[in-house]
Amino acid sequence: MGITGRRNQEIYDVVGIGFGPSNLSLAIALEEHGASAPEQPVKSHFFERQPTFGWHRNMLLPSTTMQISFLKDLATFRNPMSRFSFVSFLHASNRLVQFVNNQDFYPTRQEFHQYLEWAAAGLRDRVTYGAEVTSIRPAAVAGATTPDLLEIEVRGSDGTTSVVTARNVAISTGLVPRLPEGVTADERVWHSSEFLSRFNAQTPDDLKSVAVVGAGQSAAEITRFLYDSLPHAEVSAVIPSYGYSVADDTPFANQVFDPGAVDEYYFGTERAQDAFWRYHRNTNYSVVDADVIRALYQRSYDEQVGGSQRLHFRNLTRVTEVKRAGSGTRVVLRSLLDDRTEELAVDALVFATGYDGLDPSHLLGEFDQHFQRGAAGRHQVERDYRLVTASGLTCGVYLQGGTEHSHGLSSSLLSNIAVRSGEIADSIMLRRTERELDRTCPVQVAPSAV
Ligand code: FDA
Ligand code: NAP
Repeated sequence: MGITGRRNQEIYDVVGIGFGPSNLSLAIALEEHGASAPEQPVKSHFFERQPTFGWHRNMLLPSTTMQISFLKDLATFRNPMSRFSFVSFLHASNRLVQFVNNQDFYPTRQEFHQYLEWAAAGLRDRVTYGAEVTSIRPAAVAGATTPDLLEIEVRGSDGTTSVVTARNVAISTGLVPRLPEGVTADERVWHSSEFLSRFNAQTPDDLKSVAVVGAGQSAAEITRFLYDSLPHAEVSAVIPSYGYSVADDTPFANQVFDPGAVDEYYFGTERAQDAFWRYHRNTNYSVVDADVIRALYQRSYDEQVGGSQRLHFRNLTRVTEVKRAGSGTRVVLRSLLDDRTEELAVDALVFATGYDGLDPSHLLGEFDQHFQRGAAGRHQVERDYRLVTASGLTCGVYLQGGTEHSHGLSSSLLSNIAVRSGEIADSIMLRRTERELDRTCPVQVAPSAV
């Protein structure tokens, strides 16, 4: 990468857009496929806009833990022998014995981040960091678009652009932070996805009144962190429910994240798909792990025992507006109890108001019209995670994320990435083999059939 308009002549089997856990897992699946079939090497490359590997760095708060078992790592469910498993990482870090002694299925997010960095380092020649993909379009050869090749435009951190060509892309650009309508972020108003970098840029003594909006895992973790880090500050939690609700991670409910649940969701009736959401949305959205809920309640109770209160839970309350006056910020709260509004002056306001799913439209631009959408206006996706084309395109646009409507609840999570990446790698290889067979053995039509 580097020179404006530079064109890389290589044709890749697949280019990955984003190098978070999903595409890292795909890179591993492709690598292991190449090792088992060296006569069929897969040409792949990945582009990541961050300068180095990073997984939700701004939420790497002390004591926060993973919400999946360590065995739901980048590879184990697809290949338990993988050298990229979490167990391999522990072994390489001389910590396997201690990890087992610790008897915990759920590592800290800090340790899992170390694992992901370790795995990414093992594939460093497959990825370009500081490289943002800005568009995907059909490749043009001699002025005409080709149905089987894609051009991917990449902007380097120095602002220069280059173009690479591939038969397939795997889009894995992650969740998109969501703020309530009308709210914009600034140095005092933050989304949870930017929390630590914003917080670390402040002088703690300047933060005398802070508020956190939302009742999900991010909100609860940030509220606990602010309370512990700012012993002099008033901390308000603005909660739309009547207190935090627990994330259901009990064994039967957890089955919704099993690899097999993807088939049952994908091929299920509309009523079955609705039932998945109706009964099991509380495994993931607007819910909090029990230990964090208990930790917050304990702090609140200790305050009652001590007779002074600076942790305030504003239940059944939503934010309707944020007002700025000079350097001051006031947040408008509406109580669902009596519909009254109230203004609260804050030095920092954190919106832990969740995320929208991955949407490939902005990368596809005009090319998007070649892909089919269903009645609800969402992209139709094959079982192998490839967008359904509306024309005779033979190149593949695969999604890792953004497929909750077609593949179910695990789409935005880590639970199924090893298996999903294996399925995508298999699909890419199968389609390549079919293409090669078509080229070398074109179908012979019997004269009598003509
Ligand atoms: P992810 O968002 O991780 O990675 C996408 C990457 O693409 C990013 O690195 C981004 O920089 C890059 N990118 C975006 N646009 C680009 C472009 N145009 N060009 C190049 N690069 C681009 N789930 C779970 O199962 N268990 C858990 O414990 C957690 N924990 C958790 C904590 C927090 C704080 C959040 C916010 C979310 C979770 N999740 C989770 C859910 C989360 O979606 C999941 O952990 C992974 O981040 C999904 O990995 P992806 O690689 O799909 O996206
Ligand atoms: P989330 O679960 O979508 O929660 C967003 C919260 O914001 C909801 O309670 C929502 O309430 C509330 N909200 C939205 N608009 C509001 C408004 N105007 N006023 C008041 N409240 C409002 O988002 P999240 O907590 O960021 O979690 C996202 C994903 O990240 C989940 O998968 C989660 O498990 C994961 N995560 C994991 C960890 C970890 O592994 N340790 C940490 C953080 C996050 P309504 O539902 O009523 O709209």
